[in-house]
Amino acid sequence: MNGALDPATLTAIADGLAGPGWAVVPGFLPSPLVQVLAAELQARDAAGDLRPAAVGAGDRRAIRTDVRGDRIQWLTEAGSGAGSEAERAVLARLEALRLGLNGALQLGLFELECHYACYSPGATYARHLDRSPAGAERVVSVVQYLNADWSASDGGELRIHADAGDVDVVPLGGTLAVFLSERLEHEVRPARRARLSLTGWFRRRTPGSWK
Ligand code: OGA
Ligand code: MN
Repeated sequence: MNGALDPATLTAIADGLAGPGWAVVPGFLPSPLVQVLAAELQARDAAGDLRPAAVGAGDRRAIRTDVRGDRIQWLTEAGSGAGSEAERAVLARLEALRLGLNGALQLGLFELECHYACYSPGATYARHLDRSPAGAERVVSVVQYLNADWSASDGGELRIHADAGDVDVVPLGGTLAVFLSERLEHEVRPARRARLSLTGWFRRRTPGSWK
């Protein structure tokens, strides 16, 4: 798969960000890609590569499973390598989205950081804003769900606290949730099953992040 994005999808996402600040696109990723990425996430988890995610910055950075209960592995860190074909395909699609949003909204999105995430049954992420732990600012959050089947009764919703009221996103594989990182508070509700995702942020360069 190349990274191509159809214009209607790009318009829907850009309109959502420019309006209420969020958009949800079911079927953003094709199901064969969702299945391969889910298998790769699970293989990485079985190998012990996913680690409990930390919260807070600087000296206060800590594992607090009462605040945030997922395990993660970064895909975009130095040393994480070129990745598999499926990982390159999903990164290409996100790159097309980054460029498309810059064209549509002049957001100055400079780069992507992203990680796999797995929430075991019962794990949550309390209401928060996606502030960057350090340096470059997170502007747009992009969450892609990887469970090939998921029903509303499995729980695990992403709850976006939007201006017009709460929006619950069912984390069904292939769905993309996009929102303004520093404007919309959100939380991950407990699920009955392991909940898999690839979560990322398009970042802007800030003066302190210039090298
Ligand atoms: C996060 C987050 C939402 C989700 O990782 O910061 O809010 O639905 N994830 O997984
Ligand atoms: Mn978040």
